[in-house]
Amino acid sequence: MPENAKHLLLVDDEAALREAIAERLAEQGFTVEQAASGEAAIARLADFAFDIIITDLRLPGVDGRAVLDAALARYPDIIAIIITGFGTVKDAVDAIKQGAADFITKPFQFDALLHVIHSALEQRRLRAENAYLRSQLQERYRIDGLIGRSRVMRDLCQLLETVAATSSTVLINGETGTGKELAARAIHHNSPRRNNRFVALNCSAIPETLLEAELFGHVRGAFTGAVANRQGRLEQAHKGTLFLDEVGTMSPGLQAKLLRVLQEREFERVGDGHTIKVDVRVVAATHSDLHKMVAEGSFREDLYYRLNVIPVKLPPLRERRDDIPLLIQHFLQKLGAEQVPPRSVTVSQQAMRHLMAYDWPGNVRQLENVVERMVLLRAEGMIDVDDLPARMQKAARANDKAQALELPEDGIDLRDAVEQFENKLILQALERTGWNKNRAAAVLRMNRTTLVEKLKKKNLTDEQLAS
Ligand SMILES: Nc1ncnc2c1ncn2[C@@H]1O[C@H](COP(=O)(O)OP(=O)(O)OP(=O)(O)O)[C@@H](O)[C@H]1O
Ligand SMILES: [Mg+2]
Repeated sequence: MPENAKHLLLVDDEAALREAIAERLAEQGFTVEQAASGEAAIARLADFAFDIIITDLRLPGVDGRAVLDAALARYPDIIAIIITGFGTVKDAVDAIKQGAADFITKPFQFDALLHVIHSALEQRRLRAENAYLRSQLQERYRIDGLIGRSRVMRDLCQLLETVAATSSTVLINGETGTGKELAARAIHHNSPRRNNRFVALNCSAIPETLLEAELFGHVRGAFTGAVANRQGRLEQAHKGTLFLDEVGTMSPGLQAKLLRVLQEREFERVGDGHTIKVDVRVVAATHSDLHKMVAEGSFREDLYYRLNVIPVKLPPLRERRDDIPLLIQHFLQKLGAEQVPPRSVTVSQQAMRHLMAYDWPGNVRQLENVVERMVLLRAEGMIDVDDLPARMQKAARANDKAQALELPEDGIDLRDAVEQFENKLILQALERTGWNKNRAAAVLRMNRTTLVEKLKKKNLTDEQLAS
């Protein structure tokens, strides 16, 4: 018998029908107990926590409603399915109001009953999962707005919090869409400078000739079009934080001027000889490898060291896949609430697996866009594999192929394939047993020590599993 078989109590006074159903449910892997009367059912419920109860409404003596009451009072999470006679739909509706998950009308095909059971189980699983994700979201984050419970994100939050308390220059590095600007804002909002300005300047978005004036300001007549004196971003950020985005694109001339600001905390407006002193905390960001640019001579070494006092690395999403469900839940809630009227959308387990398997070259920004698209297309209900963007469905199909154990045209690395296959099954066993290694080992028909050894070899420590 499978370790995690669902325990089911079947209540009906028609012995032949009851026994036939019980037998077929057992074939499907359920652990079934039978009760021939309401009294017997209530007595059994007092002793044992069933996962599912299926009861006829019409029973001699204590009827199905009372059984349902007793079951739900004792086990609010139990899945209750009601069997009703023909023409008693109103009773069924009342039972559902009372807390039953679903009903089925006699006479019925066994497959129809099985379908009702499985969809009720799936619904409950989704509910539990959503409740879990919600509780994770509601947990107070030390750094507001930055979602992520993976190990790397927790370490990152800790680092940001520590850094925020200082006035040190920070260099944030990360691929597109990983949250570099979000992290910069988080540093500012958690710093003693939070009541002054956070001023952002994207060095790659402004033509080189204008960037200098934008950063330092200018005086009237400094260049064609400079019709008045103007404050630069540096001055605007006085006592606050200046965020220099895509700092790797700065010209050598401007790099030298920025270096002076970082060293002396002073500068002149363009076209002016008057020196201005500022108290600004600089947070810079780049998606390029500045270290390499230094080696190649396209970025000043001294500026690099001035900027890189505290390096902050934002991990790409594919290196912290555990955060994907949490981020999806976050965006679903945020976007769902913005719709008029507000919508509530969930993601099926299959679709979630594909979303977690995808490589997300555009990282969190891409994920947010995909979720938005799916919310708009799905008015209400559940997002399934069919609702995913085509390229993800394609990736999903490629995945299915790997599972179908087909030898690809161009051959395969057997050791790698076997390892992946093994990982997949182990992960599923752990998921199915709530990460209980004893039970997961039993599901995989191996002993616990062997499983633990394997996990160790695969570098999956308890902490990684837990996060
Ligand atoms: N950890 C996170 N939690 C919640 N939202 C996030 C997270 N990381 C990024 N986002 C969201 O993803 C989007 C992109 O983030 P952001 O603009 O900070 O990325 P970036 O690294 O600056 O990207 P680019 O290099 O393209 O400028 C934003 O909408 C941001 O709110
Ligand atoms: Mg950015």
